[in-house]
Amino acid sequence: MKSEIVLVCPLYEPTMEQLEKMFTVHRLWEAKDPAALLKQARDRVRAISTMGAVGCKADLMDALPKTEIIACFGVGVDAIDLEAAKHRKIAVTNTPDVLTECVADLGMALLLSIARRIPQGDRFVREGKWLKASYPLCQHVGGRTLGIVGLGRIGQAVAKRAEAFGIKVVYYGRRKNPAVSYPYYSDLKKMAADVDYVMLTVPGGAATKHLVNAEVLKALGPEGTLINLARGSIVDEKALVQALKDGSLGAAALDVFEAEPKVPEALLAMDNVVLQPHQGSATHETRAAMGQLVVDNLKAHFEGKPLLTRVV
Ligand code: 8YV
Repeated sequence: MKSEIVLVCPLYEPTMEQLEKMFTVHRLWEAKDPAALLKQARDRVRAISTMGAVGCKADLMDALPKTEIIACFGVGVDAIDLEAAKHRKIAVTNTPDVLTECVADLGMALLLSIARRIPQGDRFVREGKWLKASYPLCQHVGGRTLGIVGLGRIGQAVAKRAEAFGIKVVYYGRRKNPAVSYPYYSDLKKMAADVDYVMLTVPGGAATKHLVNAEVLKALGPEGTLINLARGSIVDEKALVQALKDGSLGAAALDVFEAEPKVPEALLAMDNVVLQPHQGSATHETRAAMGQLVVDNLKAHFEGKPLLTRVV
């Protein structure tokens, strides 16, 4: 008899096909009456799989009290109630490492896009404006300074790329990392005042909520750029919109938002902003590798073997 699992939201299609072969899969987001589905599967479901941005709250764990494992398709587990999982002795796994390079690629692409005004240039050509005028000059990235917030795996992968472009790297984090030689700041505002770009690669969650506030944005200043690759919750979005509006912040390149997929209306109209639909890990290769980790963690769990990438 196949074990039963609940998928909270759609994952990468081939991953779902793999899961369907191994388990009886309940697709919660497709259910006409999700409460009825949870009620009828309540005593049989032993695993939940969800995405980083969607997560899993305590009420779902309570609705499925036989849950033994939550396998997250994503590295960020800030939307999963980890305390509730621990309390209920539910294991949680994520998908680190396999997405590091892709997310770092997008970080560098966002930096280049905003500095060289690439989406704006594309619009300029498409709108026929090139026939009437030359495109305004923009900013050389070499020789500038990038301040990375959270120099973990993704932050370090971004740092490597930035160095190849002649950009100086510094970082802010809770602790100095003795394994790296980049200059360290223990004060985010101070770092923001000293750099051209601030890039966020730190985990989301309560500990980093609105870490980037009006004061940090003001310190980054009218020539500064904020790049967010991590979680919308890290930035006070209202303060960001205000700073971009009044010119106290120069520009922003954003892959994530506080209430995504909703993006503040005001940002849509701004020319000094580059927007992406949360696609740091969104390549076929990376999503396939993330999916394989989800499958392998679930397989290990049901075979009684050690989990590959356990968070709690
Ligand atoms: C994904 C992410 O967007 O890994 C994360 O934490 O935010 C991204 O890789 C998501 O989790 C997959 O859908």
